Amino acid sequence: MTDHATCRECGERFDFERPERPPPAPDADRSIFDVARFTPTVCTACESTAAQLQAVEAREAARIERNVPLRYRDADFDSFRAATPTQRLALEAVRDHAGEGVFLLGPPGCGKTHLVCCAVLGGPDGSLFVSSTDLLDDIRAGFDGDGQGFFARAKLAPLLALDDLGSENPKDWVRDRLYTLLNARWNANMPLLVTTNCTPQVIAERIGAAGVSRLSGLCRRRIDMEGRDGRRG
Ligand SMILES: Nc1ncnc2c1ncn2[C@@H]1O[C@H](COP(=O)(O)OP(=O)(O)OP(=O)(O)O)[C@@H](O)[C@H]1O
Ligand SMILES: [Mg+2]
Ligand SMILES: [Zn+2]
Repeated sequence: MTDHATCRECGERFDFERPERPPPAPDADRSIFDVARFTPTVCTACESTAAQLQAVEAREAARIERNVPLRYRDADFDSFRAATPTQRLALEAVRDHAGEGVFLLGPPGCGKTHLVCCAVLGGPDGSLFVSSTDLLDDIRAGFDGDGQGFFARAKLAPLLALDDLGSENPKDWVRDRLYTLLNARWNANMPLLVTTNCTPQVIAERIGAAGVSRLSGLCRRRIDMEGRDGRRG
């Protein structure tokens, strides 16, 4: 039976189908009759808008929790333009094989950070994006010993993206802490995504041979990306 109600969100009158009242039975559960009396208070249009808003809010909360920068809020694999063969390889590696670890090397703006952000946004709970600078800053500030900050989270994250590795040359003790992190993830077999625009030689100079050895074990796929600078439009 078609009935009418007024939506409490938009104030519009709307139709809805009221279930037929089942014939009374002596031992029937009262809730059956409650269903028959039920009147929706929100129209279907407002209900779907509310569901969409909730999905956007949940995605935003996950982005903040996973430390993905605002710029990459809407990054997804579908919107990544694979204009060169190596961009296609990078897309496939990060989208389909993140669990094996991926090392992305390439010039500024070719989409490295974009890709790893997609993986972190779509990864399991606790996935984390962190720039190498923020991680090293936390180590220098002493946040690595007290279970706080990025260091502790980066050790435990089921998927970690370490952005711009090699962008600075850490002092020995900071380098040791970075090695500790890589070694912990290596021992626990936890996947790592790395982006950089430094050559492997420069990375080796900056994080040391032991770190590089862990790194090559952690990132089974290495893609040398080429592509134009997406920041130039
Ligand atoms: N192939 C692409 N498809 C879609 N967007 C892209 C692509 N490449 C770059 N972009 C966009 O261009 C901007 C720069 O890309 P991104 O930050 O991923 O570059 P990057 O390779 O990490 O550069 P850098 O080495 O300077 O950090 C971002 O807004 C990103 O979303
Ligand atoms: Mg980047
Ligand atoms: Zn409505």
